Amino acid sequence: MKKLIGPFKQILPLTGLPLKGALADEQLHILPNGGVLIEDGLILAVDDFDKLRSNYPLVQIEEITGDHVLLPGFIDCHTHICFAGSRAKDYAMRNSGKTYLEIAQSGGGIWDSVTQTRTADEVTLTNLLIKRVQRHVAEGVTTIEIKSGYGLSVDAELRQLQAIKSAGDKTNASLISTCLAAHILPKDFDGNHQEYLNYLLQNLLPVIKQKGLSNRVDVFIEQSAFNTSDALNYLAKAKQLGFEVAVHADQFTTGGSEVAIKARAASADHLEASGDYEIKLLANSDTVAVTLPGASLGLGMPYAPARKLLNAGACLAIASDWNPGSAPMGDLLMQAAVMAAAEKLSAAEVFAGLTSRAAQALKLDDRGSLSKGKLADMQAYPCDDYCEILYQQGKLKPEMVWTADLF
Ligand code: NIG
Ligand code: FE
Repeated sequence: MKKLIGPFKQILPLTGLPLKGALADEQLHILPNGGVLIEDGLILAVDDFDKLRSNYPLVQIEEITGDHVLLPGFIDCHTHICFAGSRAKDYAMRNSGKTYLEIAQSGGGIWDSVTQTRTADEVTLTNLLIKRVQRHVAEGVTTIEIKSGYGLSVDAELRQLQAIKSAGDKTNASLISTCLAAHILPKDFDGNHQEYLNYLLQNLLPVIKQKGLSNRVDVFIEQSAFNTSDALNYLAKAKQLGFEVAVHADQFTTGGSEVAIKARAASADHLEASGDYEIKLLANSDTVAVTLPGASLGLGMPYAPARKLLNAGACLAIASDWNPGSAPMGDLLMQAAVMAAAEKLSAAEVFAGLTSRAAQALKLDDRGSLSKGKLADMQAYPCDDYCEILYQQGKLKPEMVWTADLF
């Protein structure tokens, strides 16, 4: 059954933009009074609404009243929203002057979320996750990458990935799971970092593959987590097992992004500490540079050098990093808009970073723009010009959100 939706005051299809490098708003294609023709969850045509209506006189029409701007659904390509409990105490300690490392060493940090998450059964985890997914969908995010990494044992990691799968079955969003068992060395593991990674390669990753629970692996490269050589070896072996890989890179210290590029990772994420050397490497690679302004806001730290990355020619995506510790807010649009003001990013760079370029970070070629054959994941803002959306710095939310499986 075909369906025509419109008219929209403006449609920004986000098509035809280069995958890498700086973008000017003049490069944005803006379709006035447009409509979208959809069949079985896929876009058949994006064109002038009246033209589509006369070319397809028999289709069902969802008439949009009032001025709206239509965008592709956002793709949040980096989150950790499968968790139980809270780390509000960490936040208060941090704002009282304690550092991330000091908080971790005094019983807070990632390990605190691991112990809280381990106490939750799969149903509880799934229900907590569904609420967060629904909030994201209401805010226009239709594809969400979700990492494990608060289980850190075979059973608890599998439980997280299973909860992500169940939440995906029960919500309209597309959920893309990633195994982040290499988040930190769990305190109860009897062995060193290298032994833990080998343990994961032997006992966890093959099970994840066999159960079809994820095809992505991530590792946190940092002084408090894993070193570059152990991580590179782990990623190479994960790739041999058939996983796509991503890296938590250059958050506090450098080293991670170089590993990401050597491992031909889909993305290197964080990059707050990246300098000119790392920027050049990323710009000359096929690895997507994922910036996480929510972590900068949550930790009270500088943003990743988004402007420099784009000017150097990198493919830059923007994700929320939504997690209980460093990025508890989870409002992707607000974070992207606020970083854009500080880093001087054009609307084209922000919207591409939240859609087509974020799709590249997840290696998804069926979404991220509005054109024939793409998924009908879309969101409409109640305004008459796309510039209003970033101008309102996240306060203007979409009034309508569609996901492909609604059709
Ligand atoms: O992306 N940097 C490592 N991992 C998460 C933090 C998770 C946490 O603090 O619980 C991040 O910021
Ligand atoms: Fe993260």
